[in-house]
Amino acid sequence: MSTMLAPEPVKADTRKVVLSGIQPTGKMHIGNYVGAVSLWVQNQTRYDNLFCIANMHALTIPEAINPKTLRQQSRETAALLLACGIDPQQSIVFMQSDVAAHAYLAWILSCCTPVGWLERMTQYKTKAAKTEVVSSGLLTYPVLQTADILAYKAAYVPVGDDQKQHLELARDVAERFNHLYEAYFPLPDVLTRTSGTRIMGMDDPSAKMSKSTAQTRSGHAIGVLDTLDVIRKTIMSAVTDTGNETRFEVASAGVRNLLTLYEVLSGETRDQIETRFAGRGYGALKRELVELVVRTLEPIQARFREISDAPEYLNDVLAQGAECARERAERTLADVRQLVGL
Ligand code: TYM
Repeated sequence: MSTMLAPEPVKADTRKVVLSGIQPTGKMHIGNYVGAVSLWVQNQTRYDNLFCIANMHALTIPEAINPKTLRQQSRETAALLLACGIDPQQSIVFMQSDVAAHAYLAWILSCCTPVGWLERMTQYKTKAAKTEVVSSGLLTYPVLQTADILAYKAAYVPVGDDQKQHLELARDVAERFNHLYEAYFPLPDVLTRTSGTRIMGMDDPSAKMSKSTAQTRSGHAIGVLDTLDVIRKTIMSAVTDTGNETRFEVASAGVRNLLTLYEVLSGETRDQIETRFAGRGYGALKRELVELVVRTLEPIQARFREISDAPEYLNDVLAQGAECARERAERTLADVRQLVGL
């Protein structure tokens, strides 16, 4: 396949470093695509990028995922990133667990992180409330995320809205390290879309679309790998209201969510979209959104199938990615060990 050349080594360059990650827990959904992955793809040529499959983060609730599923979903997530347009010639794609320096750095950073900061994290509070046995890894999860970022001294971290608080924490931890030892880490900035940073559940527009909810509720999320039938059913039964208001500012949460998806996936302006759907009712909006989502996802699904049929290609990409990432992270770790006296 001509599009599947073995990746060339990706060289560190003078462009700003971007790092982001995705957990391989459950199926990637359109919220992940819109809020994060499509943004990574869009900015790919502008930055020096690293994208990791955060498989160690997936261990924080061990009851939620078995080892076989974790391994499978980690590879599937990697294949999906490539299928969405992450180009291994432009970006380093790797498994978090392949770069041991992340965990090592996370330990050092956890020693600079007051427990109170971690206890305040809303994701921790939400997840801990739903988990019978709360692991200390669930609490220190954002420190590992901070290590992912600081290992490469990333300038930007492109994420959806739900990760902003973790990013603030990463900055605080970096600042505290710099204060305790030496001004070493640059403070990472969050990079988000202007619209589409928080895609809501199709069945419940008061809650963000989430991989874990999608595991128990069909109709909640649009999976990037969902069939046309499932996509149609999910969108056509999305929660709206009894009116016909399709203006962004005044539409109800469910309708605004559909409009937002339409906006990001079509690239049209809000004015154009409001004109397009004015007075046509929610049925028209939903039908046209189905078409748009299918048009967006079909090529991704086709490419995903190609990559899945070529496991050696994925092995090569991940091996190459791990090697490049390791070299860079180990350089940072060597500095940090020196700075803290190890
Ligand atoms: P995760 O796997 O939950 O989500 C991956 C990315 O998708 C974004 N996202 C959304 N965006 C819009 N609408 C939604 N409903 C929605 N749901 C999720 C997330 O904000 C994220 O950008 N801890 C991280 C993974 C991670 C990471 C990192 C991120 C590990 N290390 C270092 C940045 C930097 C997570 O669980 O993302």
